[in-house]
Amino acid sequence: METIADTLCDAGFTQTYKDKKCTMTNLRPDLSPVASELTERHRETKWNDAQVPIVKNTKLLQVNDLRKYFPIQKGILQRTVGYVKAVDGISFDVNRGETLGLVGESGCGKTTAGRCLLRLIPPTSGSFIFGEEQVDLAKLTHREMQPFRKRIQMIFQDPHASLNPRMTVADIVGEPMHVNRTEKGTALQDRIVALLESVGLRSQDMRRYPHAFSGGQRQRIGIARALALQPELIVADEPVSALDVSVQAQILNLLAELREEFNLSYIFIAHDLSVVEHISDRVAVMYLGKIVEISDAETLYESPKHPYTEALISAVPLPDPNAQREREHIRLEGDVPDPSQPPTGCYFHPRCRYATDICKQETPELRQVAQDVQVACHHSDTLELQGV
Ligand SMILES: Nc1ncnc2c1ncn2[C@@H]1O[C@H](COP(=O)(O)OP(=O)(O)O)[C@@H](O)[C@H]1O
Ligand code: SF4
Ligand SMILES: [Mg+2]
Repeated sequence: METIADTLCDAGFTQTYKDKKCTMTNLRPDLSPVASELTERHRETKWNDAQVPIVKNTKLLQVNDLRKYFPIQKGILQRTVGYVKAVDGISFDVNRGETLGLVGESGCGKTTAGRCLLRLIPPTSGSFIFGEEQVDLAKLTHREMQPFRKRIQMIFQDPHASLNPRMTVADIVGEPMHVNRTEKGTALQDRIVALLESVGLRSQDMRRYPHAFSGGQRQRIGIARALALQPELIVADEPVSALDVSVQAQILNLLAELREEFNLSYIFIAHDLSVVEHISDRVAVMYLGKIVEISDAETLYESPKHPYTEALISAVPLPDPNAQREREHIRLEGDVPDPSQPPTGCYFHPRCRYATDICKQETPELRQVAQDVQVACHHSDTLELQGV
């Protein structure tokens, strides 16, 4: 006989626990709309108040020295004459249930890092150890990677470009489940409805096409699709950058709620520190393919240790208009340099107001300066930088 646990698992909600042969009798009915709906259908089943055995603060992903060099090829023979070092040796961890903000100006290598983690492009070197199984995703073949693709999903920046205009919402959200054969028939339809409701859309929206929706609603469709296979980790690549400011807050709130509801972990990519301020537990700041500062979010915003972080923070608007008027906005001159020809020494030195001779000659290593704070700057011990 099919048990409630099987039903929930078959609904594609708690496969992880089923795989681990965990008992489902202590699943909270309020865990998700899917669970609640099924609870309704199985009223006779007794639930207790205990939590699902979700282990928080365990490491979900450990990225070690990830590099992605794009070869520059020239001539008829397409000889490699150099490399664009888009990601140049970054390391960080993501805990379960945590959001890591990955921030830096355009061209710093954030998207490339995200695409490598999903194995959409092959990394040049490095490892990314994933899950309790401690599997190095960087070493897997295309075929071996298949089961892990369900567990890591991506939300893209541009909801206009990432949704197929010729597919209905039901087809878009249902496609991953159809392709992976996790659902079919009415179970698939029920799951699509539950997913749409969990992102604030209505079941009537199923038969409509993406063009009938606003930018914010389209991003909600993209989020529902990303949730379809119950991922553990979502790489959100500038998910609100293309949206109006008023809609940005709604989508950020939705992502924060979904994180709690489904115990998700996020790598949240943004070019602007204000976007990730409230959603991030920790923030990594990237500059020209390298992490220059990584810290818990509160410390980073209040007392940045790297001049580049300070400059990004100075662009975060303050709620108090008087404080906003008085604070200094640090203008960063020029653009991020070409990663195929990075500056000598500290890559940030041509734009840094605190640069000295050593900065032009020696590249600073990322080093631990306090608990949970790492920074790559020769002068971080003596500089007194401005936070929010
Ligand atoms: N397929 C590619 N071939 C060559 N260079 C690339 C490719 N993709 C990205 N780059 C370069 O890598 C750098 C980082 O790009 P990207 O990861 O998109 O940065 P971000 O997302 O931070 O804006 C940029 O200089 C970009 O031009
Ligand atoms: S090492 Fe020098 S140039 Fe680089 S951020 Fe620190 S002070 Fe600025
Ligand atoms: Mg990008």
